[in-house]
Amino acid sequence: MGHLHNRNIIIGVTGGIAAYKIAELIRLLRGDGAAVRVIMSRGAQAFVTPLTLQSLSGHPVHTELLDETAEMGMGHIELARWADAFLVAPATADAVARLAAGRADDLLTTAALATPAPLFVAPAMNQQMWNNAATSANIQTLTNRGVNIIGPDAGEQACGDVGAGRLTEPADIRAEISAHFPNRALEGKRVVITAGPTREPLDPVRYLSNHSSGKMGFALAQAAAEAGAETILIAGPVMLDTPDGVTRVNIETAGQMHEACMEQIHESTDLFVGSAAVADYRAEFNAPQKIKKVGDTLNLSLIRNPDIITEVAKSTHRPSLVVGFAAETEHLMEHAEAKRVAKGLDVVVANDVSRADIGFNSDTNMVTWLDNAGHEVIPLTTKQNLARLLIARCSKRLSSTSDSDDKIPAKMEGDR
Ligand code: C5P
Repeated sequence: MGHLHNRNIIIGVTGGIAAYKIAELIRLLRGDGAAVRVIMSRGAQAFVTPLTLQSLSGHPVHTELLDETAEMGMGHIELARWADAFLVAPATADAVARLAAGRADDLLTTAALATPAPLFVAPAMNQQMWNNAATSANIQTLTNRGVNIIGPDAGEQACGDVGAGRLTEPADIRAEISAHFPNRALEGKRVVITAGPTREPLDPVRYLSNHSSGKMGFALAQAAAEAGAETILIAGPVMLDTPDGVTRVNIETAGQMHEACMEQIHESTDLFVGSAAVADYRAEFNAPQKIKKVGDTLNLSLIRNPDIITEVAKSTHRPSLVVGFAAETEHLMEHAEAKRVAKGLDVVVANDVSRADIGFNSDTNMVTWLDNAGHEVIPLTTKQNLARLLIARCSKRLSSTSDSDDKIPAKMEGDR
């Protein structure tokens, strides 16, 4: 089910030539399962008739603030409360100015002030008007208030000018509104995610660890919870807040993480994501007292930690989907695919940690999704965004039954 399914969207149409494009936008939004109600300013009605937008939205178009019959049906406050998203498109320079000033002298501006829903404004105007300092200041005011400004696009304008000021295409407006709503595709699913580093003690004051920030795993947990999953985050020591709706289990060592995972994986667990940077080795002996400096060298004897994700993948209650990460500095695809097979994973999310702008500690990441069907690069984006994309992919895989046969194609794209 898409992000806009069962969402209520108000479109406030103001008087610009691009008003005709709203017909297509309504069609797209309704196609995604959204309910749409339209408010038209007087100017908008000169460009497109209320009857057109009424036919497409399936509801009478609202035009007047003080209309007794309309108020008896759905009054302006009720209308404002009904909305899950409030879009003004096209928003003329005047509409932008009036929204910035907080005016409430017609139905559109009044409802925009009265709505608790997120406000989206898609400006459309002559490029000179768009570039005018007054418009820029109004847009800045709206942005500062948390209004989502969509576009405008640049190009040839109805008046013959060329420049910024064209209404963003309906499909792109739909995408921006859609991205605002989490996909509830993991409703009823249980997800366990590991995140952050582990710490392997050497003595009471020292430990072996790594630079993992935990940001990716925390973003994944947030995205999973937003998607409606019961989300358990097994976290190593990191300085991050627990995302809303996520149950956090704090651990320090790989051994503790292993134990926590085994406790949390049971028959109702659908998805496991191992994003933790688990220490491969731990000290064979954890010295009970601080190790003293004696001599020029110190030999530490290290022993292997359990490979947690491998254990999860072969456990009796194996989740339907097991996703691992592979941080590599060379031969990304070969190493990641080898890891996928060796660990018994369905998916490996591979990233090249030799690059400074992605991976450990950075806020952005660029990864390759690798599964039995081949691989696909997910371009550089914020970890938050990437997490949403990855969770959306996981939910798609979970809901598709045809993915269960784990055939590796003879030749994958990346081998060329
Ligand atoms: O082998 P490598 O450490 O590169 O594998 C990375 C993947 O394996 C990650 O998903 C990581 O969370 C998981 N892993 C694990 N337990 C370990 C080592 C890695 O779960 N001991």
